[in-house]
Amino acid sequence: MISPVLPSYNRAKLSFVKGEGSWMVEADGRRFIDFASGIAVMSLGHGHPALVRALTDQANALWHTSNLYVVPQQEALAERLVEHTFADTVFFCNSGTEATELAVKMARKYWSESDTPERTTILTFEGAFHGRSIAAISAAGSEKLTKGFGPLLPGFRQLAFADHEALRAAAAAPDVGAIMVEPVQGEAGIRPLPDACLKGLRDLCDEHGLLLIFDEIQCGVGRTGRLFAHEWAGITPDIMMVAKGIGGGYPLGALLATERAARGMTAGTHGSTYGGNPLGCAVGVAVMDEITREGFLDEVRQKAGFLRQRLEGLVAAHPDVFEGVRGSGLMLGLKCQATNTDVVAAGYDAQILTVPAADNVVRVLPALTISEAEIAEGVARLDTAASAVSRKIAAA
Ligand SMILES: Cc1ncc(COP(=O)(O)O)c(C=O)c1O
Repeated sequence: MISPVLPSYNRAKLSFVKGEGSWMVEADGRRFIDFASGIAVMSLGHGHPALVRALTDQANALWHTSNLYVVPQQEALAERLVEHTFADTVFFCNSGTEATELAVKMARKYWSESDTPERTTILTFEGAFHGRSIAAISAAGSEKLTKGFGPLLPGFRQLAFADHEALRAAAAAPDVGAIMVEPVQGEAGIRPLPDACLKGLRDLCDEHGLLLIFDEIQCGVGRTGRLFAHEWAGITPDIMMVAKGIGGGYPLGALLATERAARGMTAGTHGSTYGGNPLGCAVGVAVMDEITREGFLDEVRQKAGFLRQRLEGLVAAHPDVFEGVRGSGLMLGLKCQATNTDVVAAGYDAQILTVPAADNVVRVLPALTISEAEIAEGVARLDTAASAVSRKIAAA
């Protein structure tokens, strides 16, 4: 018999009742160290006082009005995002997938307003993940996401991950209007696009007048040690999707764009009932104020170096379990020799949370606020987990 909750997830038999910084308490009282952050959501950890204050103050004042009216919290958050990024304008939604939807609509609208409205195709990359709506799975194109859900949305062309020649040819096609990419692919197993490739994509878009769309839903909001991952490459997109970390656990998404890219998005062209609600935006302002605080990202970069060094040591100590470390900042992946899901499960026994990804990778995504002592404790627990996996391999 089907469960009351649609069985569309593979859930671990764990259920958490409380979160404190980088720690989560299971219903049976066990304390887990959180190297998952709800898949890169809890940017400031659990129960951050500034976020709790922002949410409860707003909850006491006003939950919801409507986008029929001016929402001051929305304006405050948009101003911060515009101040700290390439963007001139921001639309707020409730999730990453919704931001992807608008990115696709915005690119299409941009070209429909031009003298080449046939430029409806968006180039995307193998391994991409942009969400679960029909547009988002059509953009990603993988069988794992799309099987059984056709007909898919037309207007996407997927390219191999590092085939520069195919990319150059595809970008020159007369029906192509945009390129959409994650600067660090998350679900694909923490695959960063080298800075030279990001620069190359910007050049290619400039050469052909295409819009460059970055999906920073997982890699953005301080996770790589810069506010947004593309900053490392010294280039900017025309459109960018943001979600996860920007809400610090409150459902919040945003689509950032230049004035030029957003030129077709006039009144009545897009909307959302809950998008940009006062609760989410009040939390978003608190997140932005903390992450853009002087020295915050310096600390993230320092901790990232420490984590990476410890993980390299872990890999060296368990060559039968791990192959290497990859990624950037506090968005790291342990490429496994053993089965990644066995490593994650052994982590549960050792009371540490990590996240499996494609390409046999275990994702390590701690809160940006984690301490070095907590990192050391987490890696020690991963060491316990790896030893358990080693014993299992030896016994097999
Ligand atoms: C890169 C990327 N894009 C889009 C999404 C979809 O976001 P959401 O689950 O909030 O709709 C995710 C979620 O994992 C993601 O990692």
